[in-house]
Amino acid sequence: MNITHIGNAFKIDTKETSYIIAVADEEGFIGHVYYGPKIEDIPEYLLRINENPFIPSRNNRDRGSFMDTFPCEFPGNGLGDYREGAIEVIDGDGHRAVNFTYDGFRIFDGKEKITGLPQTFENERSLDGKTGAKAKSLEIYASDKTLNLKAVLRYTVFEDSDALIRSVKIINESDKNIFLTKIMSASFDMDSEDFELLTLHGSWARERQMDQRAIGYGKTSVGSVKGESSHQEHPFMALVEKNSTQEKGRVYGFSFIYSGNFLAQVEKTQFDSIRAMMGINPIGFKWELKSGESFEAPEVAIVFSNEGLGKMSRAYHDLYRNHLIRSPYKDKERPILINNWEATYFDFNTEKLLDIAREAKKSGIEMLVMDDGWFGKRNDDNSSLGDWNVNEEKLQGGLKHLVDEVNKIGLKFGIWMEPEMISPDSDLYRAHPDWAFAVPNRVPTRSRNQFVLDLTRPEVLEHTWNSIKTVLSSANIEYLKWDMNRQLTDLGSLGLGKENQGEIFHRYMLAVYELQERLVTEFPNLLLENCSGGGARFDPGMLYYGPQIWCSDDTDAIERLGIQEGTALIYPLSSMGAHVSDCPNHTVGRVTPFETRGHVALAGTFGYELDITKIPEEDRNMIPQQTAMYHKYHSLVRSGDYYRIASYRENRFYDCYGVVSKDKSEALFTFVQVVGRPNYHSRLIKLAGLDPEAKYRIEDSGDDATELYGRTIMEAGILIQNLWGDYKSKLIHLVRV
Ligand code: GLA
Repeated sequence: MNITHIGNAFKIDTKETSYIIAVADEEGFIGHVYYGPKIEDIPEYLLRINENPFIPSRNNRDRGSFMDTFPCEFPGNGLGDYREGAIEVIDGDGHRAVNFTYDGFRIFDGKEKITGLPQTFENERSLDGKTGAKAKSLEIYASDKTLNLKAVLRYTVFEDSDALIRSVKIINESDKNIFLTKIMSASFDMDSEDFELLTLHGSWARERQMDQRAIGYGKTSVGSVKGESSHQEHPFMALVEKNSTQEKGRVYGFSFIYSGNFLAQVEKTQFDSIRAMMGINPIGFKWELKSGESFEAPEVAIVFSNEGLGKMSRAYHDLYRNHLIRSPYKDKERPILINNWEATYFDFNTEKLLDIAREAKKSGIEMLVMDDGWFGKRNDDNSSLGDWNVNEEKLQGGLKHLVDEVNKIGLKFGIWMEPEMISPDSDLYRAHPDWAFAVPNRVPTRSRNQFVLDLTRPEVLEHTWNSIKTVLSSANIEYLKWDMNRQLTDLGSLGLGKENQGEIFHRYMLAVYELQERLVTEFPNLLLENCSGGGARFDPGMLYYGPQIWCSDDTDAIERLGIQEGTALIYPLSSMGAHVSDCPNHTVGRVTPFETRGHVALAGTFGYELDITKIPEEDRNMIPQQTAMYHKYHSLVRSGDYYRIASYRENRFYDCYGVVSKDKSEALFTFVQVVGRPNYHSRLIKLAGLDPEAKYRIEDSGDDATELYGRTIMEAGILIQNLWGDYKSKLIHLVRV
């Protein structure tokens, strides 16, 4: 890792990549020279300013041609570059022109903190006090001299990672107010190399499905305007060389460390160049920057891999495990939990929960999580959000009594809350109807019969924090599932003036982050699992606060294969909330073997979501084996390198993925035969990530060969016998001998 300033250029090197920026012409245009595999030179000719010179100092007659072709590092708007800019403003006179030119730089060890936002960090800031890899940063200072607006382009690299972290800070140094109407966190231009665009598409119960398409001329984008990262699109995109595989091909990944509205866009131009950008979605965004104020845009983590998608995934997993997730749980085994949602929905009481806890304890389950329905008069999803007082008709004796009893049984206790919401039928709403977002004189849009609290108002934020704190302090609560079950719309805030209503989306996100920051500060040992109608807020931003996120409300083992494949494209397995649930599955009605449900959940945090007192005895009898399996493998799953071997999404027959320990001494692969195939005896599987020179014992293989060299296993492959039936699965455990 190194950052150097040579001549008028900046070279940011990680172990295997180089990123090069150069300043061109007397006016100080900041150009993007190169990003890719590590190189020694600074190929400034890639800026093409000497060809057919349009460069303003030599040919101001064709300034427009220069502006519209120059490969920019942070493009402005309305001054000759017709490609979409990374920043847009409205100045005091109503003009929208803006462009930044170079002023200076600073290279330093470490990394500056961004205010109020989730962010990557050097390891020593980890909550568990561990020290780790160092960082190096570059700040490029630029300004729009006409507007007196300053930009700080920020870059950080870590010594143990090939990722590049980018973000931008805008400072209004003029004596006038200005409106920011668009601010991307990262943008750069490069020659098109026949890339395709890989994004993660979804819906409720089928989040993060991989979707790859050609990049045609014009703009191709995904985004969210829902006030959260969303079920539908994901704050991620990758430019993927055509025909790339898990091992081969050039891939540029962009992952946004933010949980609100986002835009991820590529623009292919008339000259076959590509402008890629990522940041807060400009739709609905208008931020007043008063004289002297600054705006900090969230970070984008960019990863380049010239060895396909697999290497990109492993780079993101390591980056997020080492430099984003702070929870002390990140390096610890998570307690195996049982959640009562699919077991009881709203129909439970103290005795029912204690029955579940007693039975769970016998099978090695370690924590009971009480889901929705314990507060106010919430017997269905029509009321009581905001009234965070215990429903004593259901929980006779109160919350502390229940928690104490659960603890006596020998289980930890966790609870569900949805702090950002307010039901129209709640005491809170009756007292403060104006605390919900609403556009005056319009019928407010209900969703799941609830509204969103206007957390941009300090009094609402304080009230919400006090509610959370009161609940968590009232008993020995060791886990919180923080849910968010509707998206934002109808944005109107009584706390903001008419010029500032366009700030709501981002201010809302800052408020949620503020609440979660208070939470992890005040309750540092609490295990926080974020959730949003399943996995609608599964994003890097939330991982900064909680080490795990509920992946999807779809707990069907087969549906989970695709959901977890897309999620693991970016996120470590240890962050994916995954549970064994009952059958027929409550979302799709599918019946899968209990064993397969366990194997699939093992690729996540692992837990149960069923009524353990009611499931078939033969299933219940398998739980002790499954909890033992979790303890045997979880540190490997949590810390190992992830390899995707085969995808049911592509082959329609089977799925195979696994983890290999960092020292390559142990590996665990999961094979799921989704569909049985007639007249087919065994399947050849070539595993990956092993030490070719080392010999491995294949435990429980059932195959002829049990000790083989890593090279044999990877090049010749191993045979998996037909498992007879649909939805069957098998673990392949390898130990170096
Ligand atoms: C969301 C969550 C579920 C459950 C319900 C409760 O849908 O994803 O797991 O907690 O809310 O209402």
